This record gives sequence, C-alpha cells and structure tokens, in this order.
Amino acid sequence: MTQLPRVITDDVLSDNLIELLDGKIERLPWATLEGPQDETVDGVLTFGHMLVTAEHMARFPNLKVVSNYGVGVDHIDVEGAHELNIAVGNTPHVLNGTTADQAMTLLLAAGRRLREGDIYARSPEFTYFDPAYMLGTEIHHQTVGIIGLGGIGYQIARRCAAFDMNILYHKRTELKDNPDNLDLTYVSLDELLEQSDFVVAICPLTEETTGLIGTEEFAKMKSSAVLINVARGPIVDTDALTTALQEGQIYAAGLDVTDPEPLPRDHPLLSLDNVTIAPHLGSATMQTRRKMAEISVENLLLGLRGETLFHSV
Ligand code: DGY
Repeated sequence: MTQLPRVITDDVLSDNLIELLDGKIERLPWATLEGPQDETVDGVLTFGHMLVTAEHMARFPNLKVVSNYGVGVDHIDVEGAHELNIAVGNTPHVLNGTTADQAMTLLLAAGRRLREGDIYARSPEFTYFDPAYMLGTEIHHQTVGIIGLGGIGYQIARRCAAFDMNILYHKRTELKDNPDNLDLTYVSLDELLEQSDFVVAICPLTEETTGLIGTEEFAKMKSSAVLINVARGPIVDTDALTTALQEGQIYAAGLDVTDPEPLPRDHPLLSLDNVTIAPHLGSATMQTRRKMAEISVENLLLGLRGETLFHSV
C-alpha cells in the first residue's frame, strides 16, 4: 500500500474538509507542529487561525506546502516559508461577495441599531410603538470610506453604490481596474476619516496596518460616524475604539473581528449598546465555505505533488 502524504491539520476540521481529505492524506495532530524535527511531514493545512512560524516550518525538512483555508495569511510567516522553499496557498476571490455582504450586514445593523432593536422588541418593555425611540443614522446618500479596495473592498463599493452612497477609498496606490465603472474617489487616509459617515476597514493585516485606526484617527472622524471592521482585529486599537464609543467620539461600530479574538468576556466593549459584534463570520455561508474547502484541499494536494498551487501567496 502506498504511503499517504503526512499533513498536520487543525485537530477540528469542517465536515467539508474531512470529506475532501478522506483517503488523500494521513492527518497528524496540530501538536506535531510544536514537536521534534520530523522528516516524514509533507504538509500543513490551517483551518482556523493557528500560528505557523518559520521556527515551526524549519522542523520539517520535507515540508512542501502550507495550505490555508481563508484568504488572510497573517497567522503564517509567509516570508519564512518562502525562504524555506515552502509554498503557501490561500482561498481568495470565492469569498469576496460573501464578505462584502457581511460588511453591509454590519453597516446596516450598526447604522440602524438592529442589535438594540432586536433586544428591545423581545423585552417586556416593548409595550407600544413610539416614533421617537431608537433613531438611527441614514445610510443611503451618505459617504462611505473604504480602507483597502482589493477584491472584497470592490464588492463592498458595488453594494454601497446600490445604496446611492458617495464612495471614497484609500489604499497604497490608486485603483487601476474598475470593471463596473463605479464612481470612486481616491483620498488620503486623513481625508477619508474626516469626510466619511461610514468607515469600512477591509485591508490586510500587516506591520503597516496594525493599529491603523487608533486615538488620533478617531479624533479625526465625525462624531456621527460608524466604523466597520471586516478585516482583522488588530487594525483597530481596541482601547481607543472602546473610548471612542463610550465618549461619543464616533456614533457606533460594527465589528466582524476584534483584538483579541474573542474579547475577554468582561471586556467593556461587550457592554456597550452602540457596538454590534459578529464572531468572525465574514465568509461564513454554507456555499462559500464549501468553495474554500475545495480550494484549500486543491492547493494542498498540488503542493504535496510539488506542483504550482491554484492560489498562492
Ligand atoms: C479569511 O478568509 O481570511 C477569513 O478571515 C477566514 O479565515
């Protein structure tokens, strides 16, 4: 019987991944990554956001590929992998629309106070309709500022255009490709913060973007502004955000991600009414997660055979 490739995976995987990997690899427990040098390990498949450092990878002289289930690879030392000649795969594109939908879900929910409304509608306090309560902020015809106009950011812009929003964006370089001829205005980060009613963060987490939105940035934002983070928690300084929401420096926030993730259960942010938080659900639909499983397994199998990955970073 031929030996199956030996692959370190998260100990808990989705049913999709288990089905697609069946009979193709021998699964090794995640703890193997922290163990002694092992020449028999061929691959790593990351499902959650477990850290994969250069030190880990260097323990496995025959490691050919690290395949990530997801687009963001900030938990993997990509440079270290390249130095060790290890391919790193990810799953871009298939989750763009779904993550953009989640950005809009949070934008609408935070702007229109859906979380508070839902709690109130279920509570014994809701005894009559009062046109004066729970006024939110307008969404259509407002200005949205998107930080990071990659594949997901562009899909967010398309959705904002359908809401008749004025769209600003900031990224390292001006967008070259605008297939839908959207009306987009390239601005500096400061201009975006000063002018936007909704600030949406959807840039990759890098050294440059860590703490991108902190005390100084909140001071530049409108007191009526809503911050949406569908990227990675550390892009926003959690303490500064908590203060900004507590002191009314901004109106509300909608977060798909936090730093740390999850927040400690007694964190002050969790007791605020003007923040809506999802537990990192950006790409969490049955359809998209199936596609992500297929691509991450395809990348893994290609890498194990020493072939070019379908999507690599
Ligand atoms: C991504 O694709 O980066 C999502 O955050 C899930 O990991």
